[in-house]
Parts: sequence; structure tokens; C-alpha cells
Amino acid sequence: MIAVETDEIKEFFNRLAPNWDERCVFNKANIQRILTLAQVGEGNRVIDVGCGTGVMIEPLLACGVSEVYAIDIAEGMIAKAKEKYGQEAAVWFEAVDFLDNDKRGYDCVIVHNAYPHFLDKLALADAIHRSLRVGGRFVIAHSDSRAKINGCHHKLDSSISSYLQAAAVDARNFQAQFDVDIIIDDADIYMISGVRKE
Ligand SMILES: C[S@@+](CC[C@H](N)C(=O)[O-])C[C@H]1O[C@@H](n2cnc3c(N)ncnc32)[C@H](O)[C@@H]1O
Repeated sequence: MIAVETDEIKEFFNRLAPNWDERCVFNKANIQRILTLAQVGEGNRVIDVGCGTGVMIEPLLACGVSEVYAIDIAEGMIAKAKEKYGQEAAVWFEAVDFLDNDKRGYDCVIVHNAYPHFLDKLALADAIHRSLRVGGRFVIAHSDSRAKINGCHHKLDSSISSYLQAAAVDARNFQAQFDVDIIIDDADIYMISGVRKE
């Protein structure tokens, strides 16, 4: 177990929350590609881990999911997400550390653009495993290339963010507990995905 100072991560993102949507532009086609590959669909119950201001909520609702449990450690991010999607009946929000999550039985856990901020990858794998039903799918993804993501993170302190390794290398963190069947590390997206074994 790696000792992680989550307060630092939380305060970092609370400071960024007010202007997050102005700073970040997302490639909708790449997000759609990720959700299509993961076969997120009708009736699925999904956890959006590190939801930020809710970038994934609209695309997830468009897939016909029945529930989005949107979690973020930074309450400032959750407040922004609620401003935008608080009226959606299928979405609920919580400002919590995903590593403490005790809600179980979900069909899908998606971690979009948040994986580098989980410094203890095996603790993340355990939390995902706890949250999914057997056969449920996890998705670690970026709707940009690894080079671009690492380029953004190189200025950040190692107490806040880690570098993405090649997806095939990072996938090893999940292979004990999941059948990892999607590994993509191309010019457009970074994606590691698989299903809970037992
Ligand atoms: C780079 S932002 C991405 C936000 C959003 N998913 C997106 O695609 O725009 C990473 C988010 O992960 C959240 N985060 C980091 N560690 C977390 C943890 N342990 N539990 C829950 N959220 C966390 C941060 O607060 C931040 O809002």
C-alpha cells in the first residue's frame, strides 16, 4: 500500500474547479469511441469515478444508462457538476474518495481522465473490483493520446499525478482480478478495460 496524501489532490482540484470547463476541451468523438468499445448501454448502472464537472454524464445518459453515480474527491468539482446535471433523475453525486467506496454491484466503473491521480494503482484496482458485479466492466480511459496526457502532467508534483505508462504495462495492475480484453494506446485515446472475474 502506497501512502497517498489525498488532501493535496483534493485541494488542487478544488482550486481548478471554477474554471475547469473553460480550460478543458474534450473530443466528443473519442469519448464516444471509448463508450462504444466498452459497450456501455441501455439500463447499465455506472460509476463515473473522478467525475469532475461531469464531462462524461451527457455521453453516458445518451447510451441509455439507468444510473450514473458521479463521485469526486473535490467538492468544488461536484458542485459544478450538480449545477449542470443536478436535475437529471438518473444521476446522483457524492464528494468522496473513490478508494473508500462501499457501493457494490455496478455494471460499469469508468475512470475518465482521472487515472494518473490515483497514485496507488493496486488500491484503485481493489476499489473497482469491490464496486462491480461479477462480469461488470471497468474502463480506464483518456480521450487523448498518452503523449498529450503526459505532456500536461509533466509540470505537476508527483504527489498529485503519475505518468501514464504504455497501456499494456499499466494493464498489469488489473490482470489479477479482471479479464483485460481492451488495451489501446494510439494517437487518439488511451484505454484499458476488462471484466471482473469473480
Ligand atoms: C483531471 S480531472 C478529470 C475530471 C473528469 N473525469 C473529466 O474527464 O474532465 C480528475 C478528477 O479526479 C478526481 N479525483 C482524484 N482522486 C480521486 C479520488 N481518490 N476519488 C475520487 N475522485 C478523485 C479529482 O478531484 C478530479 O476532479
